[in-house]
Amino acid sequence: MEYLEIAVPNIDGEAAEAVCELFNRYGHGGAVMEAAAPAFDRVTVRTVIPADDQARREHIEMMLALIGKALPHGLPAPQFTRIGETDWATAWREHFQTIRIGRRFVIKPSWREYTPVEEDIVIEIDPGLAFGSGLHPTTRLCLEIFETMDWAGQELFDVGTGSGILSIAAAKLGARRIRAVDIDEVAVRVAQENFARNGLADNPSLVVETAVGSAVDAGGRRWPVVVANILANILLELMPHLAAATAADGRLVLSGMILEQEAEVTAAAAAQGLVVVDRRQEEDWVALVVQRKEA
Ligand SMILES: C[S@@+](CC[C@H](N)C(=O)[O-])C[C@H]1O[C@@H](n2cnc3c(N)ncnc32)[C@H](O)[C@@H]1O
Repeated sequence: MEYLEIAVPNIDGEAAEAVCELFNRYGHGGAVMEAAAPAFDRVTVRTVIPADDQARREHIEMMLALIGKALPHGLPAPQFTRIGETDWATAWREHFQTIRIGRRFVIKPSWREYTPVEEDIVIEIDPGLAFGSGLHPTTRLCLEIFETMDWAGQELFDVGTGSGILSIAAAKLGARRIRAVDIDEVAVRVAQENFARNGLADNPSLVVETAVGSAVDAGGRRWPVVVANILANILLELMPHLAAATAADGRLVLSGMILEQEAEVTAAAAAQGLVVVDRRQEEDWVALVVQRKEA
């Protein structure tokens, strides 16, 4: 079969997540991200479709236009290249690169070789399956916050785990119990695969639980660390449950909000007796760490 490659070149992580989601849904064999050296913070996202599927091409073009309108910096025009018969399933892997986040995290596709240096923490994720490739600022902010925390023997409740990237990071930093939930059962399956890929599934010193669920499904306990990287309106809705799931002296990491939503999220946390103890910002995205006042 002849294929048409569709590429959206040189975009930032936020745009890449949106385009990947579209390409994973409508592309043939999923999305491919190609990071540009040297900074790896701009990527090209590609997919292929059968060359004669004009309806699918038009649908993708229309959706890209809509995504472009919703993004603060828009999207560059997509590029179309007719390619011959190819084994897309393996050919696309060539595009994926290893990316570095924060000081220590290295996010690597499973088929790439990487030799860790010094204090590197390598997370193996197969991109393009569930949200959480590490490219989005909301994920990066959580990883940067995690790097500042002492994880030895710590316990994490990961609400909206997506690819499982934050749970894997916490486990690699020393957490000994993880509960990861997501309302999307595909995400839970992908997270489980990524946990196994990173040696979390059969580590005797680590308890890992996964479930299709949300903040109410805390496994019957309160957690020293809770993280939720979900859109602000959902954070607001879940706040009472997130607060209830957080131990008395525990910390709740909230990400997924933009600058204009920060005050509302902070107020919702305050209504549950939680105050901001740390704050990070990247572009328009904000992440907060909140804790009980009396702690
Ligand atoms: C922005 S992604 C975050 C993924 C990953 N934790 C990260 O930081 O990259 C949000 C995830 O939350 C899930 N989600 C959305 N609403 C939810 C809810 N009410 N309860 C639990 N998970 C939810 C989505 O399915 C998605 O996987």
